[in-house]
Amino acid sequence: MITNELALKFIRHNPALSVSSLEKEAGIPRQTITRALNENRAIPEKHLDLLLPILSKYGYSALLYQNARVISVVNHKGGVGKTTTTASLGEALANKGFKILLIDLDPQGNLSQILGVDSPEVQVADSLINNVPFPVLNIIPNLDLSPSDIDLANVEMRFHELTGGEFRLKNRISHLLNQYDYIIIDCPPSLNKLTLSAMAASTSCIIPLLPEMSAVKGLNSIWGKIMEVRHDLNASLQIDGVVFTMVKKNSVHDGIKAYVKEEVKNIKIFNAEIRHLIDFQKSQIAQSSISKFSGNSDAAKCYWDFCDEYIAYLQIVK
Ligand SMILES: Nc1ncnc2c1ncn2[C@@H]1O[C@H](COP(=O)(O)OP(=O)(O)O)[C@@H](O)[C@H]1O
Ligand SMILES: [Mg+2]
Repeated sequence: MITNELALKFIRHNPALSVSSLEKEAGIPRQTITRALNENRAIPEKHLDLLLPILSKYGYSALLYQNARVISVVNHKGGVGKTTTTASLGEALANKGFKILLIDLDPQGNLSQILGVDSPEVQVADSLINNVPFPVLNIIPNLDLSPSDIDLANVEMRFHELTGGEFRLKNRISHLLNQYDYIIIDCPPSLNKLTLSAMAASTSCIIPLLPEMSAVKGLNSIWGKIMEVRHDLNASLQIDGVVFTMVKKNSVHDGIKAYVKEEVKNIKIFNAEIRHLIDFQKSQIAQSSISKFSGNSDAAKCYWDFCDEYIAYLQIVK
């Protein structure tokens, strides 16, 4: 199945494809796609039929765009780059043309603050407790945020009295799944009920990991919790992989990365790594996502590279 919207989405997301070559291969008139992209003119049905086998050859499938992939960014330790990864991967995906929703599920509200939302009028907690509509604020083109602040701690305390506690988040966002390509949830620094509810709502998890021995040892706890979630809450939860964060060029970090790559066989370790760079802290002080703060910086580039690797990986596993 292909529609004008899906065809254009796929072409926009794959800038390496040459539009004129696609038109030629499909045997449709020159400029058909260019006009659709630039002038909002729909590709006629008969030309879409001819395009379908060509786009499929390059990896198109309607399944790619069925529902948002919901990703929990999870690690029970604080200060490992969960929030930075959520904001920066989300921004990189949005800049590629994907529709992104970021959910702040940490009562510290750091994700909301980074994106310039300090005291949200309506927040995730309101929806989880009182069933008001799930809050969605637009931040930059293609990137929306469901904000939180310390009020979210009430949800954690009142979980036992909330009917269907761990499934509330999943239920509250179900109507949003067909509006986004990726929904990324920034989890709190604990494997608590909020994190469980994120994982219950998710397709998969990304684990940011510091190349330090204590952090690496903590990987077992995360793995164990994900197995529990699979058993009791969400049988299809996947682990997309581990991304090393705050990586420094020294023999200790090099050694630990090598150790993890050698020893950890059941989880993918992404090749792209996020270097320890001061621009991440500067951008946080400026309450700005990293590319908006400094689009050409090495810091922004780290997440562009991770984003490219991640998308390529998803085309294999999806
Ligand atoms: N790659 C990095 N290099 C340097 N500082 C970073 C990097 N990633 C995050 N930080 C900083 O480290 C602190 C913790 O990062 P954060 O993403 O908030 O971690 P978490 O959400 O796991 O607690 C923040 O001040 C952030 O700006
Ligand atoms: Mg955080």
